[in-house]
Amino acid sequence: MKATVVIHNIGELATPTGKVARRGSAMSMISVIPDAAVIVDVETIVWAGPASDMPRLDGPPPETIDARGCAVIPGFVDSHTHFIFDGYRADEFFWRASGLPYMEIHRRGGGIANSVSATRSASLSDLVAGGALRLERMLELGVTTVEGKSGYGLDLDTELRQLEAMHALDSRQPVDIVPTFLGPHSIPTEYKGRPGDYIDFVVEKVLPRVQSSGLARFCDIFCEKGVFELDDSRRYLEAARDAGFGLKLHADEIERLGGAGLAAELRAVSADHLLKASPEDLRAMSAAGVVATCLPLTAFTLKEPYADARSMINVGLAVALATDLNPGSCYSQSIPLSAALAVLYMRMSMEEVLTALTLNGAAALGLASDRGSLEAGKLADMLILDAPSYKHLAYNVGMNCVGTVIKRGKVVSVRN
Ligand code: NIG
Ligand code: FE
Repeated sequence: MKATVVIHNIGELATPTGKVARRGSAMSMISVIPDAAVIVDVETIVWAGPASDMPRLDGPPPETIDARGCAVIPGFVDSHTHFIFDGYRADEFFWRASGLPYMEIHRRGGGIANSVSATRSASLSDLVAGGALRLERMLELGVTTVEGKSGYGLDLDTELRQLEAMHALDSRQPVDIVPTFLGPHSIPTEYKGRPGDYIDFVVEKVLPRVQSSGLARFCDIFCEKGVFELDDSRRYLEAARDAGFGLKLHADEIERLGGAGLAAELRAVSADHLLKASPEDLRAMSAAGVVATCLPLTAFTLKEPYADARSMINVGLAVALATDLNPGSCYSQSIPLSAALAVLYMRMSMEEVLTALTLNGAAALGLASDRGSLEAGKLADMLILDAPSYKHLAYNVGMNCVGTVIKRGKVVSVRN
């Protein structure tokens, strides 16, 4: 066996396994191997297992990385963020803290609209610079693949500029970026009271340009009462599907509208938020194989009840966890706080949380075949924790226990 890197002296190798999302009770069945090693050839894992079973290596001696008895887990896949934007909205955080609801700020013309005007005025290099800063923080926290959405332009040029910023950043730093077009994120002031007309504009004028640019892999929509309701959402998503995009929805976040059911009907790759999703719609999602992406940091900062992850897992859904990093409802990249909230308030086990942040996050991006677990054939995206067990991820509440980040077989971040 040929190798470029060997990670040895791993106290505990903890990972889900497989090339598809793990659903229901399978989410908790992770592999935990004490005294383990991982062998990497260039950017791919060629072997992982107990150190005592390590195969013989041929060829030039590989680089060795000593995990010093610590735990090793897969790199995190943050499958839902809005990390490209201009226009911070710190004041809104405090207004919400003192009781003003998120949608009330939105109705009064604040919220997303404020980030939209700032993002429209931002140049490509402004957007790239802001995005680069946020990606650095994510990488330190162990994120090796991130999804990023447009949606702060709501016009042709700015939406494309946000996607271009992600494209530029993808090749400039280690984190793999999966771009999503979120043109219908809000109704722009030019279309106030006319969501249908805005959807017409997006479908006729913007979507074809996004398609021909090759700058997005998924299409998403804020399917919500008073924003884009079911008929408009269906029309947009069908057009996106016909154009070859995978589908995602912000569904049933603030009110129970039936977005989760629509995700099932259209066989979306994921439906996200789901705080108010009905039990029937969750069952329909499970039957249709839609990944349920829960965003506990958003529920936390909006002071809303958490999504019912326990029931989701009980009906056989694959649950993913993501941060939803954005300038409004949730300005946080904190994977560790997400993990702790999921365990403490969403009744998820630590094993389910690990699966949700890795393999199921990858599945929510259609990438479970090449990442999200540590086994032969997968990308060598892995984290050496500065802790003896994967359990510290939630137990060391809100703290970063990621020591070393390895992306595609290379050490890209080391914390001293
Ligand atoms: O996922 N609710 C819609 N979209 C984002 C928030 C965007 C914003 O407030 O800027 C979300 O929560
Ligand atoms: Fe979001």
